[in-house]
Amino acid sequence: MRTGTVGQNQSMPTDNAAAWDRHSAAYQAGAQLPTDVAHYGPDIGTEADFRLLGDLKGKRVLELGCGGAQCSIAFAKHGAIAIGVDFSSEQLAFARRLCDREAVKVELHHGDLADLAFVRAESIDLVFSAYAFGYVEDLGRVFRQVHRVLRPGSPLVFSLPHPAYDMIDDDSDQPLLIRRSYFDRTPIDYEWNGIAFTDYRHTISDIYMGLLRANYRVDAIVEPEPAGGGPKSQHWRETYKYVPRTLIIRARKEGM
Ligand SMILES: C[S@@+](CC[C@H](N)C(=O)[O-])C[C@H]1O[C@@H](n2cnc3c(N)ncnc32)[C@H](O)[C@@H]1O
Repeated sequence: MRTGTVGQNQSMPTDNAAAWDRHSAAYQAGAQLPTDVAHYGPDIGTEADFRLLGDLKGKRVLELGCGGAQCSIAFAKHGAIAIGVDFSSEQLAFARRLCDREAVKVELHHGDLADLAFVRAESIDLVFSAYAFGYVEDLGRVFRQVHRVLRPGSPLVFSLPHPAYDMIDDDSDQPLLIRRSYFDRTPIDYEWNGIAFTDYRHTISDIYMGLLRANYRVDAIVEPEPAGGGPKSQHWRETYKYVPRTLIIRARKEGM
């Protein structure tokens, strides 16, 4: 998903919401995401392969950083009451049009995914997020907010760029050279279709310990290999065969 020029962040982080407003049309035109099954990232399997979410019939499912709401639409098609949150008006406008076209109801909220005040405590059966947490600096805050809205024992399932992938530059002629320390948490500025974004870096232990501190039990970690070993999406890079591109985690709320 991250392509183009990459650099270490030396100044102010980019306004990612404005960047997504500008990028939305090109992203949606290129991605052509499915609406019958939840996806986790480019060139890997889907929920049909990983089976991390369980039976969704009658469940209240909250999707964070829902973008065009393709996953929320898939949840609704599987019988869930689907709620999506995103801070990009353009992504949400696309989502509304797609819901209309597919004749599916998804409750869409405009706002930051770390602001879940509009959701009642312990009212959600599953929180899901695909490739949005990489834009979030303070994941601990998100984990605490999600903990409040989840019913006890219910899962938070999310995918994000694998932190090992941040060590390389996938637009380089020599992509497998290590360009950055795994331990460097400096945000990464990059351009995608000429639009500036900022990503935040979270090592696996940062994420795992953040979840433990927020009172979750991690019960699944998936580092998917490329599906079929070859390209499926516009994002495909040969590097995907050598370095995990996507990290998927399922964590269950413990305590109250
Ligand atoms: C790579 S897109 C993924 C969208 C969707 N999950 C999908 O798989 O197509 C990232 C999405 O997260 C949203 N996003 C990023 N940071 C966010 C934040 N802090 N609050 C709300 N939405 C956010 C962006 O607007 C964008 O729609």
